Amino acid sequence: MTQGDWRRAASADQVRSVVRTIDPSVAHIARVQDYWLGGKDHFEADRVAGDEAVARLPDMVASVRNTRAFLGRTVRFLAGERGIRQFLDIGTGIPTAANTHEAAQGVAPESRIVYVDNDPMVLAHARALLASSAEGRCAYIDADIRAPEKILAAAADVLDFRQPVGVVLMAVLQFVPDEDQPHEIVRRLMDTVPDGSYLVISHPASDIQAAAMAGMATRLNQLMAQRVKPRSREAVTAFFDRLSLVEPGVIRCPEWRPDRLEDASGKSTMWGGVAEKRPPAV
Ligand SMILES: C[S@@+](CC[C@H](N)C(=O)[O-])C[C@H]1O[C@@H](n2cnc3c(N)ncnc32)[C@H](O)[C@@H]1O
Repeated sequence: MTQGDWRRAASADQVRSVVRTIDPSVAHIARVQDYWLGGKDHFEADRVAGDEAVARLPDMVASVRNTRAFLGRTVRFLAGERGIRQFLDIGTGIPTAANTHEAAQGVAPESRIVYVDNDPMVLAHARALLASSAEGRCAYIDADIRAPEKILAAAADVLDFRQPVGVVLMAVLQFVPDEDQPHEIVRRLMDTVPDGSYLVISHPASDIQAAAMAGMATRLNQLMAQRVKPRSREAVTAFFDRLSLVEPGVIRCPEWRPDRLEDASGKSTMWGGVAEKRPPAV
């Protein structure tokens, strides 16, 4: 099983065969993230990497949690204030309490969500991501963001690309090194969705607590299967080129339209932003 709707494709044997591909001896970001979020799907190597990261960047756990809150706020904003009913969430992570479909379908039960990740542990937990409302639909694609055409072709089973889509890239682009052209990947995704679509990004900042962030990234890159590349506010803003940034622009995640004013001062070493694809001015 490499792509498609889990409900159609998965059997218990297939789940077992996926689980067999999981290597517990090397840390993987999906499991490290699960450890930081207080989940239970991680191994010793993930906990060691997670603790070593926190030793170098003590705000890490608060930052990860505030980024999840940013996910909920941005998806509710798009569903509630901008009428978006379709979401493509790439780099989904191991399911937690507030996934994209829960946020979107909490506002509009008919929302359709396609999840994408390349980690077998996420695939093994994909059922939790597919607990759609009766009116909506969820699907899971096992794919790498560096293959956007594959993702878009598979997602077209569930998403109608003639209608606006919210493209959600939450804490995933840092795993695409510059040589794999992450800005070009984002451009290809946004070229496929129609005007009225939105892009949501969160990304670790190389220019907030710069020394601690650099030390954390260096250590994680020694311990994890995936390599992490923090980026500056300028480089993160460049992902939104040719799109129209929603106020307040690219900002620390807790400062993006906080539910309560006091939440804006929450700890975060992540840049976040939302932008709309608009028709070219005539
Ligand atoms: C830091 S976690 C973020 C999870 C979730 N989006 C969040 O914000 O809590 C990064 C996720 O991206 C996935 N990922 C990393 N590199 C990827 C790639 N090249 N293609 C697809 N997913 C990737 C990892 O497996 C992991 O689940």
